[in-house]
Amino acid sequence: MARRPLVMGNWKLNGSKAFTRELIAGLKSELKGVEDCDVAIAPPVMYLAEAESALAGSAIVLGAQNVDVNVQGAFTGDISTAMLKDFGAKYIIIGHSERRTYHKESDEFIAKKFAALKEAGLVPVLCIGESEAENEAGKTEEVCARQIDAVINALGVEAFNGAVIAYEPIWAIGTGKSATPAQAQAVHAFIRAHIAAKSQAVADQVIIQYGGSVNDANAAELFTQPDIDGALVGGASLKAPAFAAIVKAAAQAKA
Ligand code: PGA
Repeated sequence: MARRPLVMGNWKLNGSKAFTRELIAGLKSELKGVEDCDVAIAPPVMYLAEAESALAGSAIVLGAQNVDVNVQGAFTGDISTAMLKDFGAKYIIIGHSERRTYHKESDEFIAKKFAALKEAGLVPVLCIGESEAENEAGKTEEVCARQIDAVINALGVEAFNGAVIAYEPIWAIGTGKSATPAQAQAVHAFIRAHIAAKSQAVADQVIIQYGGSVNDANAAELFTQPDIDGALVGGASLKAPAFAAIVKAAAQAKA
Protein backbone atom coordinates (compact mmCIF):
# COMPACT_ATOMS: atom_id res chain seq x y z
CA MET A 1 0.00 0.00 0.00
CA ALA A 2 1.32 3.41 -0.94
CA ARG A 3 1.70 5.63 2.07
CA ARG A 4 2.09 9.38 1.65
CA PRO A 5 5.35 10.44 3.30
CA LEU A 6 5.40 12.92 6.16
CA VAL A 7 8.42 15.08 6.95
CA MET A 8 8.08 17.05 10.16
CA GLY A 9 10.38 19.61 11.72
CA ASN A 10 10.83 19.53 15.48
CA TRP A 11 12.24 22.93 16.39
CA LYS A 12 12.68 21.97 20.06
CA LEU A 13 13.66 24.94 22.28
CA ASN A 14 14.75 27.20 19.44
CA GLY A 15 13.43 30.28 17.72
CA SER A 16 11.92 33.70 18.20
CA LYS A 17 9.10 35.61 16.51
CA ALA A 18 11.45 36.90 13.82
CA PHE A 19 13.06 33.48 13.34
CA THR A 20 9.62 31.89 12.94
CA ARG A 21 8.60 34.39 10.26
CA GLU A 22 11.90 34.09 8.38
CA LEU A 23 12.13 30.30 8.45
CA ILE A 24 8.54 29.89 7.29
CA ALA A 25 9.02 32.42 4.49
CA GLY A 26 12.08 30.44 3.40
CA LEU A 27 10.21 27.13 3.51
CA LYS A 28 7.28 28.51 1.54
CA SER A 29 9.54 29.63 -1.28
CA GLU A 30 11.78 26.52 -1.24
CA LEU A 31 8.82 24.13 -1.25
CA LYS A 32 6.76 25.74 -3.98
CA GLY A 33 5.44 23.04 -6.30
CA VAL A 34 6.47 20.11 -4.06
CA GLU A 35 3.31 18.07 -3.71
CA ASP A 36 4.14 14.43 -3.02
CA CYS A 37 4.98 14.80 0.65
CA ASP A 38 3.08 16.02 3.70
CA VAL A 39 5.07 18.66 5.56
CA ALA A 40 4.63 19.83 9.13
CA ILE A 41 6.55 22.02 11.55
CA ALA A 42 6.43 22.02 15.33
CA PRO A 43 7.69 25.36 16.66
CA PRO A 44 7.62 26.10 20.41
CA VAL A 45 3.96 26.74 21.38
CA MET A 46 4.87 30.37 22.14
CA TYR A 47 5.19 30.90 18.40
CA LEU A 48 2.11 29.06 17.14
CA ALA A 49 0.24 32.31 16.48
CA GLU A 50 3.19 33.75 14.57
CA ALA A 51 3.56 30.50 12.64
CA GLU A 52 -0.15 30.19 11.90
CA SER A 53 -0.27 33.59 10.23
CA ALA A 54 3.06 33.10 8.43
CA LEU A 55 1.79 29.76 7.04
CA ALA A 56 -1.37 31.25 5.52
CA GLY A 57 -1.80 30.03 1.96
CA SER A 58 0.79 27.26 2.38
CA ALA A 59 0.35 23.47 2.41
CA ILE A 60 2.74 23.23 5.37
CA VAL A 61 0.80 22.08 8.41
CA LEU A 62 1.33 23.24 11.95
CA GLY A 63 2.26 20.88 14.77
CA ALA A 64 3.40 21.02 18.37
CA GLN A 65 6.02 19.32 20.50
CA ASN A 66 3.88 18.28 23.45
CA VAL A 67 0.39 18.41 24.94
CA ASP A 68 -1.16 17.85 28.35
CA VAL A 69 -3.70 15.12 29.14
CA ASN A 70 -6.09 17.57 30.81
CA VAL A 71 -8.53 19.65 28.82
CA GLN A 72 -8.87 22.62 31.18
CA GLY A 73 -8.66 23.70 34.78
CA ALA A 74 -6.05 24.11 37.49
CA PHE A 75 -3.02 22.70 35.68
CA THR A 76 -0.38 25.43 35.84
CA GLY A 77 1.88 25.64 32.83
CA ASP A 78 0.06 23.09 30.70
CA ILE A 79 -1.31 23.34 27.15
CA SER A 80 -4.45 21.49 26.06
CA THR A 81 -5.52 19.79 22.86
CA ALA A 82 -8.22 22.46 22.41
CA MET A 83 -5.60 25.23 22.61
CA LEU A 84 -3.46 23.54 19.98
CA LYS A 85 -6.50 23.10 17.75
CA ASP A 86 -7.31 26.77 18.19
CA PHE A 87 -4.08 27.57 16.29
CA GLY A 88 -4.66 24.97 13.60
CA ALA A 89 -2.02 22.56 14.92
CA LYS A 90 -2.60 18.99 13.71
CA TYR A 91 0.45 16.78 14.25
CA ILE A 92 1.41 16.62 17.92
CA ILE A 93 4.65 15.02 19.06
CA ILE A 94 4.34 12.93 22.22
CA GLY A 95 6.81 10.70 24.01
CA HIS A 96 9.90 12.37 22.66
CA SER A 97 12.95 10.88 24.37
CA GLU A 98 13.89 14.32 25.69
CA ARG A 99 10.56 14.50 27.53
CA ARG A 100 10.80 10.89 28.66
CA THR A 101 14.24 11.69 30.10
CA TYR A 102 13.98 15.27 31.41
CA HIS A 103 10.34 15.15 32.49
CA LYS A 104 10.17 11.50 33.54
CA GLU A 105 7.22 10.78 31.25
CA SER A 106 6.20 7.13 31.49
CA ASP A 107 4.81 4.88 28.76
CA GLU A 108 1.42 4.93 30.51
CA PHE A 109 1.34 8.73 30.76
CA ILE A 110 2.26 9.02 27.08
CA ALA A 111 -0.58 6.61 26.23
CA LYS A 112 -2.93 9.02 28.02
CA LYS A 113 -1.66 11.86 25.84
CA PHE A 114 -2.23 9.65 22.80
CA ALA A 115 -5.83 9.13 23.96
CA ALA A 116 -6.36 12.87 24.54
CA LEU A 117 -5.15 13.64 21.01
CA LYS A 118 -7.37 10.98 19.40
CA GLU A 119 -10.32 12.26 21.40
CA ALA A 120 -9.66 15.76 20.06
CA GLY A 121 -9.23 14.59 16.47
CA LEU A 122 -5.53 15.48 16.40
CA VAL A 123 -2.74 13.29 15.04
CA PRO A 124 -0.35 11.79 17.62
CA VAL A 125 3.27 11.53 16.51
CA LEU A 126 4.44 8.91 18.99
CA CYS A 127 8.21 8.89 19.45
CA ILE A 128 9.81 5.62 20.40
CA GLY A 129 13.36 4.33 20.40
CA GLU A 130 16.13 2.76 22.42
CA SER A 131 19.11 4.25 24.22
CA GLU A 132 22.67 3.45 23.26
CA ALA A 133 23.00 0.99 26.17
CA GLU A 134 19.76 -0.75 25.20
CA ASN A 135 20.94 -0.91 21.60
CA GLU A 136 24.24 -2.47 22.62
CA ALA A 137 22.41 -4.95 24.84
CA GLY A 138 20.29 -6.07 21.87
CA LYS A 139 17.11 -4.65 23.39
CA THR A 140 15.99 -2.40 20.53
CA GLU A 141 12.95 -4.47 19.54
CA GLU A 142 11.95 -5.10 23.14
CA VAL A 143 11.98 -1.37 23.94
CA CYS A 144 10.05 -0.37 20.80
CA ALA A 145 7.46 -3.10 21.39
CA ARG A 146 6.98 -1.99 25.01
CA GLN A 147 6.51 1.65 24.02
CA ILE A 148 3.94 0.72 21.36
CA ASP A 149 2.17 -1.82 23.54
CA ALA A 150 1.50 0.84 26.17
CA VAL A 151 -0.80 2.50 23.61
CA ILE A 152 -2.26 -0.75 22.26
CA ASN A 153 -3.02 -1.99 25.79
CA ALA A 154 -4.77 1.24 26.74
CA LEU A 155 -6.59 2.03 23.50
CA GLY A 156 -6.44 -0.97 21.17
CA VAL A 157 -4.47 -1.27 17.96
CA GLU A 158 -7.09 0.73 16.02
CA ALA A 159 -5.82 3.84 17.79
CA PHE A 160 -2.93 3.75 15.32
CA ASN A 161 -5.32 4.40 12.43
CA GLY A 162 -4.34 7.83 11.15
CA ALA A 163 -1.51 8.09 13.69
CA VAL A 164 2.22 8.52 13.20
CA ILE A 165 5.11 6.69 14.87
CA ALA A 166 8.57 8.24 14.88
CA TYR A 167 11.35 5.72 15.45
CA GLU A 168 14.14 7.77 16.98
CA PRO A 169 17.08 5.81 18.38
CA ILE A 170 18.26 8.03 21.24
CA TRP A 171 21.91 7.51 20.31
CA ALA A 172 21.21 9.08 16.91
CA ILE A 173 19.42 12.23 18.15
CA GLY A 174 21.49 15.37 17.78
CA THR A 175 24.69 13.33 17.58
CA GLY A 176 25.33 13.47 13.84
CA LYS A 177 25.38 9.65 14.06
CA SER A 178 22.27 8.61 12.09
CA ALA A 179 21.21 4.98 11.94
CA THR A 180 22.18 3.47 8.60
CA PRO A 181 19.30 2.99 6.16
CA ALA A 182 19.52 -0.79 6.64
CA GLN A 183 19.60 -0.48 10.45
CA ALA A 184 16.59 1.84 10.46
CA GLN A 185 14.67 -0.27 7.93
CA ALA A 186 15.12 -3.38 10.09
CA VAL A 187 13.56 -1.65 13.10
CA HIS A 188 10.79 -0.06 11.02
CA ALA A 189 9.91 -3.47 9.57
CA PHE A 190 9.83 -4.89 13.09
CA ILE A 191 7.51 -2.08 14.28
CA ARG A 192 5.15 -2.59 11.34
CA ALA A 193 5.13 -6.37 11.85
CA HIS A 194 4.47 -5.88 15.56
CA ILE A 195 1.35 -3.86 14.71
CA ALA A 196 0.40 -6.23 11.88
CA ALA A 197 0.29 -9.08 14.39
CA LYS A 198 -2.77 -7.28 15.80
CA SER A 199 -4.10 -5.74 12.56
CA GLN A 200 -2.59 -5.90 9.09
CA ALA A 201 -4.85 -3.06 7.92
CA VAL A 202 -3.67 -0.73 10.68
CA ALA A 203 -0.03 -1.67 10.03
CA ASP A 204 -0.37 -1.02 6.29
CA GLN A 205 -1.45 2.59 6.76
CA VAL A 206 0.49 3.75 9.82
CA ILE A 207 3.20 6.28 8.99
CA ILE A 208 6.55 5.33 10.53
CA GLN A 209 9.03 8.19 10.42
CA TYR A 210 12.72 7.83 11.13
CA GLY A 211 14.34 10.46 13.33
CA GLY A 212 17.90 11.02 14.53
CA SER A 213 20.43 13.20 12.70
CA VAL A 214 18.49 13.23 9.44
CA ASN A 215 20.01 15.85 7.13
CA ASP A 216 20.05 16.86 3.49
CA ALA A 217 22.95 14.47 2.82
CA ASN A 218 21.56 11.24 4.29
CA ALA A 219 17.79 11.66 3.79
CA ALA A 220 17.46 10.34 0.23
CA GLU A 221 19.05 7.01 1.07
CA LEU A 222 16.94 6.57 4.20
CA PHE A 223 13.79 7.17 2.13
CA THR A 224 14.67 4.39 -0.34
CA GLN A 225 13.77 1.94 2.43
CA PRO A 226 10.23 0.54 2.09
CA ASP A 227 9.15 0.99 5.71
CA ILE A 228 10.60 4.48 6.22
CA ASP A 229 7.68 6.81 5.51
CA GLY A 230 9.35 10.13 6.17
CA ALA A 231 11.33 11.79 8.91
CA LEU A 232 11.11 13.71 12.15
CA VAL A 233 13.88 16.26 11.84
CA GLY A 234 15.47 18.28 14.65
CA GLY A 235 18.62 20.28 13.89
CA ALA A 236 18.24 20.29 10.11
CA SER A 237 14.67 21.63 10.37
CA LEU A 238 16.02 24.99 11.57
CA LYS A 239 17.42 25.86 8.14
CA ALA A 240 15.02 26.26 5.23
CA PRO A 241 17.30 24.87 2.48
CA ALA A 242 18.25 21.74 4.47
CA PHE A 243 14.70 21.01 5.58
CA ALA A 244 13.32 21.61 2.09
CA ALA A 245 15.94 19.26 0.63
CA ILE A 246 14.77 16.52 3.01
CA VAL A 247 11.15 17.10 2.00
CA LYS A 248 12.07 16.96 -1.69
CA ALA A 249 14.03 13.75 -1.14
CA ALA A 250 10.97 12.13 0.46
CA ALA A 251 8.64 13.35 -2.29
CA GLN A 252 10.97 11.96 -4.94
CA ALA A 253 11.68 8.62 -3.26
CA LYS A 254 8.04 7.86 -2.51
CA ALA A 255 6.40 9.27 -5.67
P1 PGA B 1 17.95 15.62 15.31
O1 PGA B 1 16.66 15.48 16.27
O2 PGA B 1 17.45 15.60 13.89
O3 PGA B 1 18.56 16.94 15.69
O4 PGA B 1 18.85 14.45 15.61
C1 PGA B 1 15.59 14.65 15.92
C2 PGA B 1 14.54 14.66 17.01
O5 PGA B 1 14.90 14.66 18.20
O6 PGA B 1 13.33 14.68 16.71
